[in-house]
Amino acid sequence: MHAHVTTLNEFIIERQSDFPYAKGELSRLLTHIGLAAKIVNREVNKAGLVDILGEAGGTNIQGESVKKLDVFADRRFIEALRASGECAGIASEENDEIVKFKTDLAKDGKYIVTMDPLDGSSNIDVNVSIGTIFSIYRRISPRGHEATLEDFMQRGTKQVGAGYVIYGSSTMLVFTTGRGVNGFTLDPSIGEFCLSHPNMQIPLSGTIYSINEGNYIRFPGGVKKYIKYCQESDRQTQRPYASRYIGSLVADFHRNLLKGGIFIYPQTESHPEGKLRLLYECNPMAFVMEQAGGMATDGMGTRILDIKPESLHQRAPFFVGSRRMVEKAEEFMRAERMAEEEARVAG
Ligand code: AHG
Repeated sequence: MHAHVTTLNEFIIERQSDFPYAKGELSRLLTHIGLAAKIVNREVNKAGLVDILGEAGGTNIQGESVKKLDVFADRRFIEALRASGECAGIASEENDEIVKFKTDLAKDGKYIVTMDPLDGSSNIDVNVSIGTIFSIYRRISPRGHEATLEDFMQRGTKQVGAGYVIYGSSTMLVFTTGRGVNGFTLDPSIGEFCLSHPNMQIPLSGTIYSINEGNYIRFPGGVKKYIKYCQESDRQTQRPYASRYIGSLVADFHRNLLKGGIFIYPQTESHPEGKLRLLYECNPMAFVMEQAGGMATDGMGTRILDIKPESLHQRAPFFVGSRRMVEKAEEFMRAERMAEEEARVAG
């Protein structure tokens, strides 16, 4: 006899009572995101077999080459969100401008969604985990009309839901609606996401640091010193820490969430604002991380969720993970800033 498993749909229905103000719209939206994730998962899994690997020919707004699977995932998620009737528009890494849904049903939608449909896409060709990241906001503009840019320029604190899908050795959907974080693993035999990781909590501290050390010489002094700290021996804090970096935010984040750790993508000389995008990479991951008991900042004392977005594809430095570790990294950043300031004043 098998123990009863809770499917994503069952879970969403059970939890709907958590939102007395909601009339099921958010639940329906999440169900549609789950459906799109299954379709993208199917394509990701057979990517080596069909002509879907490689470049689509264009570059996105970030000047990065667009892979065919990126385009496929973007279209699938857009179709699913449009069909849900709950979403008035989306902002995605693959589209320069916001996509406003024009049907009457969608114009009446209560929510807007930001997403990175296929994050870590440089890893597709080499069979390494990739992911989808999404974030849900209540719109500001009146229902019944097209979504506006203002709907998307909300602080991360205004998110009503956020999460990610990881297409890894198994496929998982992890999300929060502001009441903890839950993880669902796709059971391919029944084609359903099943609750496998209820109430996920990141350890207060961990032994993993994740950063692209190839950029070391371009890092701020505080980050360099923090890396040195991670590499030093100390029995009490279990240092040296292990360095683990996949290059897919979703995969690096997911591992650290389960095991405890810190992920850093700081500002560098080539990316003075950092590389990751505030609206559809940093904010959703920060919301999940805080809900799991962790912390997310820009490394300069500002909580990611408090940053007021000024443009759709804005970037932000990203320090995220176990609370004690992010606090420690912040401490090094602060000390370095003070030392620089003193040196400047001393002339
Ligand atoms: P992309 O989707 O263009 O492959 O970007 C991946 C992102 C993110 O997932 C990852 O953490 C980061 O870029 C890796 O950047 P570096 O290669 O500069 O380390």
